[in-house]
Amino acid sequence: MEILIEKLDNEGNGLSHINGKIIFIPKCLEGELVDIDIVKETKKYYIGKLNKIIIPSKKRINSPCKYFNKCNGCNLLNMNYEDTISYKENKIKEIFKKYLNYNLNVNVIECDNYYNYRNKVLLHIKDKSIGFINEDKITNIDECKIINNNLNNTIKFIKSLNIINGKVLLRVNYLNEILILIDTKDNINFNKVGSNIKGIILNNKVIYGQDHFIDTVNDLKFKVSYNSFFQVNKDVNSKLFNIIKDNINDKDNVLDLYCGVGTLGINASLKASSVLGIDNLESNIKDANENKKLNNIKNIEFIYGDASIFPKYINKNIDAIIVDPPRNGLNKFTLKNIIEYKPNKIIYVSCDPFTLVRDLKELMNIYSMDKYYLLDMFPFTHHIESLMVLERK
Ligand SMILES: C[S@@+](CC[C@H](N)C(=O)[O-])C[C@H]1O[C@@H](n2cnc3c(N)ncnc32)[C@H](O)[C@@H]1O
Repeated sequence: MEILIEKLDNEGNGLSHINGKIIFIPKCLEGELVDIDIVKETKKYYIGKLNKIIIPSKKRINSPCKYFNKCNGCNLLNMNYEDTISYKENKIKEIFKKYLNYNLNVNVIECDNYYNYRNKVLLHIKDKSIGFINEDKITNIDECKIINNNLNNTIKFIKSLNIINGKVLLRVNYLNEILILIDTKDNINFNKVGSNIKGIILNNKVIYGQDHFIDTVNDLKFKVSYNSFFQVNKDVNSKLFNIIKDNINDKDNVLDLYCGVGTLGINASLKASSVLGIDNLESNIKDANENKKLNNIKNIEFIYGDASIFPKYINKNIDAIIVDPPRNGLNKFTLKNIIEYKPNKIIYVSCDPFTLVRDLKELMNIYSMDKYYLLDMFPFTHHIESLMVLERK
């Protein structure tokens, strides 16, 4: 059937209507006339599959990736980089207008090296095919345009292991060292391991080398364990660090909630008077304390605890709170405690615009929202990393 794509939805799919219902069709662009098949129907919507583009959008480019139409690794690699940025900018403005009735002024922080940017990738293996999973199917890939080329080279090594079914997580650092995490029931045999491979972890046990490496952001060093959270895009992470530092004053006592292995807090400590970091994963706090030593930082402390009861842990007046919660945003207790505490400044780092606006709804009466940054941490995907500096009115 032929259909006109009305717009791109928040997930980067083409959106249209048929029979009074919404239809989502991946890999289509706004304004395109396309031939599709319906592959799924629910009470509220259809899912379509693109067969042929009849009239392409002016924004469409020949994807530089040979797997683009089948694979699920990224979803916007059929547009120019600048057009992906406009899509994200409009999307975030629409979300703020719809949920907060707020006209957002967006500072876009682009990614300078927008191909091969990811320092981490999770690949699935099914019947010996390795790649990104798409509705239970895997397109066997040899390379990916959005992952670091040293990770691409490691795919060859993974293929040589003859894993039939499982998952592989690959990470790379600034020295191009690689960590490999394999999750499988199959037997793994290897004779020769490349000199750049720092560690292989099979089903949570180290079977070769070590379970971590050191990575850098700006001039700071961080221990990254195979299972730690660490931002995937070095270039944009560096810009995120700079924005945070620029928004901290030298007399500030800072609280870094959801501090992970201490990255944002250690960065803030270069400018702040003092920093306290809190995370509820014990191994993160252990690594955060190692990172404190690694960077010879004296004015930071880390506590293993729950962010939602942060007032219990503080013993001095806090001027600024950095929050970088998981996708589900701040929980209601954390939010309530922040509102009661009313710090002068909140620096909210978010990887989910919907939980961000949900939380901002509670904060926008007390705080101004003039400084918003859209950081393109995940080029050629619909994902948006945000940083909002909230200043008390
Ligand atoms: C998005 S990561 C941020 C990590 C860090 N800011 C960084 O940039 O590397 C979210 C962190 O929140 C932590 N976390 C989740 N729920 C928490 C809670 N209730 N209290 C404290 N930390 C929590 C997780 O362990 C994880 O390290």
